[in-house]
Parts: sequence; structure tokens; C-alpha cells
Amino acid sequence: MDKNILKSKIEYINDILDKNLPGASEPYGKECEAMRYSVLNGGKRLRAIMLMESFGMFCNDKDISDRLLPAFITAIESVHGASLVHDDLPAMDNDVLRRGKPTTHVAYGHAMGVLAGDALFNYSYEITSLLSDSIDTSEAEITLRILRAIRVLSVNAGYSGMMGGQVLDTTEKYDKNIKTDGFDELESISFINEDKDKLKFILRIYELKTSRLIQAALMCGAILGGADKDDVKLLEEAGYALGIAFQIEDDILDMTSDAATLGKSVNIDEKNDKDTVARLYGLDNAGKLVEFYTNMAIESLKKTGKDTAFLCELFESLIYRKL
Ligand code: IPE
Ligand code: IPE
Ligand code: MG
Ligand code: MG
Ligand code: MG
Repeated sequence: MDKNILKSKIEYINDILDKNLPGASEPYGKECEAMRYSVLNGGKRLRAIMLMESFGMFCNDKDISDRLLPAFITAIESVHGASLVHDDLPAMDNDVLRRGKPTTHVAYGHAMGVLAGDALFNYSYEITSLLSDSIDTSEAEITLRILRAIRVLSVNAGYSGMMGGQVLDTTEKYDKNIKTDGFDELESISFINEDKDKLKFILRIYELKTSRLIQAALMCGAILGGADKDDVKLLEEAGYALGIAFQIEDDILDMTSDAATLGKSVNIDEKNDKDTVARLYGLDNAGKLVEFYTNMAIESLKKTGKDTAFLCELFESLIYRKL
């Protein structure tokens, strides 16, 4: 992975976020300041990069990308930022450090943590639907792409997507009567011998809380770039597998890294008595699952037959990430 290319993409995204998030003007000054703090405070920008890259797989029209991508880059990072602000609240993970800085509710107070998160969720739909102001009535095709992308983002972020996963993550405990459908890919795994019902239960939470937004990023980029249904489906599959790998690695880092490197508290999963794959099945097995799911994601990407070299390299590099 060429670090300079990655760095320039992150700079490009940060510039778009800076320009497109609301400025801190009165009377909404404090709210906007907290919104900007929550999104502009660093972050790997993976979802925005995935959105841009998947767009580029299907479209190289600079006019379309200049018109559509800034709003969607801002939207996906706003939804992600909001999810982190709420995830850190005392009622949820009760975390005080995010991206190397005090979490939003620590810096601005609990109420503002709730409200800035709400405002960011809403802003993502404001900024993307505002695109309608600059679209001509003759541009039916582009209008439909925008509408479909907003649909994917809202559904994947919502009650049956990321937010639903956060609900399960904070309120549900596994009991042995719970049977989770799907995850047939686990049948081919021999390094975990015990019954896989509990693993499937945990992976369903990961699929919802983490994969859904990654899927949204990849699918929105493809839809905006004019991909057909089959290719959008392949990106959905890639995002499913990558999200699970990403969350398992996040759990591994929680146990093996330090706060200075990670920019967030460590051992928080133990503190919150969270059932994570790494805590329950061991670091070794968790690492093998990260590789397994990353490879699965790369296979789905390659099936599109498009130029996926950068995305494949990015996915691969996440196996060995330090933060
Ligand atoms: C953190 O996501 C939340 C998870 C889904 C594990 P990231 O690790 O992408 O967070 P930032 O944006 O880089 O801070
Ligand atoms: C992912 O899980 C949270 C979201 C989907 C917002 P975590 O709670 O493990 O994420 P971190 O470790 O706080 O970033
Ligand atoms: Mg959490
Ligand atoms: Mg957390
Ligand atoms: Mg975590």
C-alpha cells in the first residue's frame, strides 16, 4: 500500500469535510462546533475512501464525481462520526478517548453528545438531498442514482442496520437457545471446533453494527457511478465480509494495543464485559478469522472484473493495521 497515495486521498477527503460541514455560525454555534469536532478530529476515512474507489470502478466522468461525491463523502463520514459519538456515550461504551482526543460528550457535555450525534445523522440526509437543487429536470438517470444511494445509506444506517446492531450490542446477551441463520461460510472453518452458534450470534451483531456502513460506502459509490445490480450486489458482499474482518481486528487491537497508538481506550471490551470474538475464541483464532473474511471480501471485489487493485490492497493492509 503506497502511503503517499493513501495520505493524499485522506487530505482530499478532509478538505471536503471541512468545506461541507456547517460552519459554526450563531445561533447554532456550539452545536456546529461539536458536529465539526466529532467528524474533523482525525480518523482513517476508510468509508469515504471506499465510496470514492467504488465510484471510480464504474465511472471516470469528472463532472459527475465533482457534483455528487462531496455530498456523499460528507454524508458517510457524518453518519460514521455520529455512530462513534453515540457509541462513546456513558449509556453505551462509556468511553472518554476517541481519535486521540476527549470524546464529544466529554468535551461538550452529555446532552451535546446526544444532540451533535443526532444533528450529524440528519445532516447526511440534508446534504445529499440538497443535491436536488442543482439537478436539471432532464437528468432523470442521475436523480435516480442519488435517490438509490440515499436509500442504501439510510437503510444500512438505520434500525435494521448499524443502529440495530448497536442495540443488540448494548442490550442482548447470548443464551444457548438462540440460533442465528446464515454464516454458511463458517462451515468450512476447522480451527474453531466448538459449537458455532455463539460465534454466529456475535457475528450477526458485527454484520449489523460494522459491516452495514462499510457496505453502504461501497454500494453508494457504485450506484452513483452507474453500476448495475449484479455489481452492486458483489460490493454488498465484499462489505459484509470486510466489515466482519474489520470489527474482529478492532477487538484484537482493544486487547493488544495501547491508547497512545490506537487513539482510544484499550481493554474497554473487558471493562464493559463485552462478548467479542477475540475475547471468546482467543487472539490466534480471531486473527485467522480476520484473514478468512478479508480474503472473502477480496474475492467478491475481484468478481466485478473491474480495476480493484487499490481497494484489494487497502483491504489486505487492514489485516495488519495498528489503529
Ligand atoms: C471504529 O471505526 C468503529 C468500528 C466500526 C470498529 P474506525 O476504526 O474506522 O474509526 P476511525 O474513523 O478511523 O476513527
Ligand atoms: C463499533 O464497535 C461501534 C460502531 C458501530 C459505532 P466498538 O464499540 O468496538 O467501536 P470502538 O472500539 O468504540 O471504536
Ligand atoms: Mg460499541
Ligand atoms: Mg466503542
Ligand atoms: Mg472496539
